[in-house]
Amino acid sequence: MTSYLPPSERIWWKVPVGKQEIIWIGIALVWCLIMFFMMPYWHVFGKQNLSNEAYQTTPAKFQARVDEMVAKYQVGEEAGIPIVKPPVGSDVYLLGRLWQWYPILELEKDKSYRIHISSMDWQHGFSLQPVNINLQIVPGYEMVVTMTPDQAGDYAIVCNEYCGIGHHSMLGKIYVKEN
Ligand code: CUA
Repeated sequence: MTSYLPPSERIWWKVPVGKQEIIWIGIALVWCLIMFFMMPYWHVFGKQNLSNEAYQTTPAKFQARVDEMVAKYQVGEEAGIPIVKPPVGSDVYLLGRLWQWYPILELEKDKSYRIHISSMDWQHGFSLQPVNINLQIVPGYEMVVTMTPDQAGDYAIVCNEYCGIGHHSMLGKIYVKEN
């Protein structure tokens, strides 16, 4: 019997496993184990995994934090969305909802900020381009990432988790300015 033909016996699971199949299962298992141990390894020695924190919240509580920050530090507006310049080193709140990231943030280069991100309604994906930082954003939890932008420029936030008919239009912005 070979592993690429249909089983000749009905009670196929009692037939000994073919040699090729054993080899492939072995290769897959070894690869699974390598990837499993690479996860903590990359976290410590690589740049792939963020050391982010997560806390429980509610959409109402989080919305209140965002509104408070916008009221204090708004410096402009773009297409109806406020541009906010929070103080260096402060806690910054960004929300995702159907279908926008709110507000637009203006940060200073080489300064650290604690960015809190949560969703008001649905699962969204925070993907910061072009630096490729990715986070799952779900309602009820706030993700906190300490960011220190090291290049000035305009960054785009792309939603990379399908969230309905307006998913493709769910784009946000972060401006990083030289200080
Ligand atoms: Cu939000 Cu896709």
